[in-house]
Amino acid sequence: MSRPGGFRPHAPREAPRSTTSPPRPPPRPPAQQRQRFDKPRLQPQVTTLWDYPSQHYGDEEQGDQRYRGATPSYVIWNVLSRFTKAGDRVVDPFCGSGTTLDVCADLDREGLGFDVAPARADVRNADARSLPLKDRSVALVFMDPPYADNLDYSDDPRCIGKLKANGQWQRAMRLAIKEAARVLQDEGVLAMFVCDVFKKNKVGNAFFPLGLELANLAREERLVAIDHVAVVRHNRTLEMGNYRQAADEQGFFLRGFNHLLLFRKRERTVE
Ligand SMILES: C[S@@+](CC[C@H](N)C(=O)[O-])C[C@H]1O[C@@H](n2cnc3c(N)ncnc32)[C@H](O)[C@@H]1O
Repeated sequence: MSRPGGFRPHAPREAPRSTTSPPRPPPRPPAQQRQRFDKPRLQPQVTTLWDYPSQHYGDEEQGDQRYRGATPSYVIWNVLSRFTKAGDRVVDPFCGSGTTLDVCADLDREGLGFDVAPARADVRNADARSLPLKDRSVALVFMDPPYADNLDYSDDPRCIGKLKANGQWQRAMRLAIKEAARVLQDEGVLAMFVCDVFKKNKVGNAFFPLGLELANLAREERLVAIDHVAVVRHNRTLEMGNYRQAADEQGFFLRGFNHLLLFRKRERTVE
């Protein structure tokens, strides 16, 4: 699994992205105190419940594990393995640390990555709502967008991660999905990876079903649902006593899965 090197500035190590707001986790133990394990061989997932115990497959890292909110690479590997073939063009409009580009290199796909705050040189600076690509020029779009304003990605005013899930985020994501639909070729696939958000604050609890919202937006763009996968979250905050205790005592659920929403562009009408 070789791929071209690249400029990879590292963000400071941070906790994985949280979608609740209970207490901060304690610092991570030093590497030598962490339990070591052998990763299982990467195999295609065959049910609609996906699980793999590592952010990365193989001996190399895909993307950058220190990038806040990096996508587990086995998810992208599975999507590309199932829905594309060698040489196909794959686009990630929210490419961050470039995980999709590394998986594309491993699988011999042509990967193109865009982001308003590119974390490395082969990710190009562009807004997901306005991609420098021709209509119908892409076989598959994979996107792992900000989950509303749950993480601070950059100061770029175009960042969708600054928008609240009170309608602002939804309006921006509608445009990103519309743009994905524009660049997809007929029968091309849109894969969206997203987690719902649960917020606790003084006023009360609020649940934002972002998975449902993205699915509705895709259907409004006349994309056809292929399937819906639940991807198990291996977020270490789930294992922490203070999070568990807060969830138990204060009556909320920690996010246990991400949605992987799979849609197809179909230009001809099927009765
Ligand atoms: C969840 S992260 C993506 C992580 C990426 N898949 C990885 O593995 O590193 C979301 C990304 O969306 C980017 N972003 C936010 N608003 C954007 C926009 N309008 N257009 C393009 N990228 C945007 C952020 O800068 C951030 O890098």
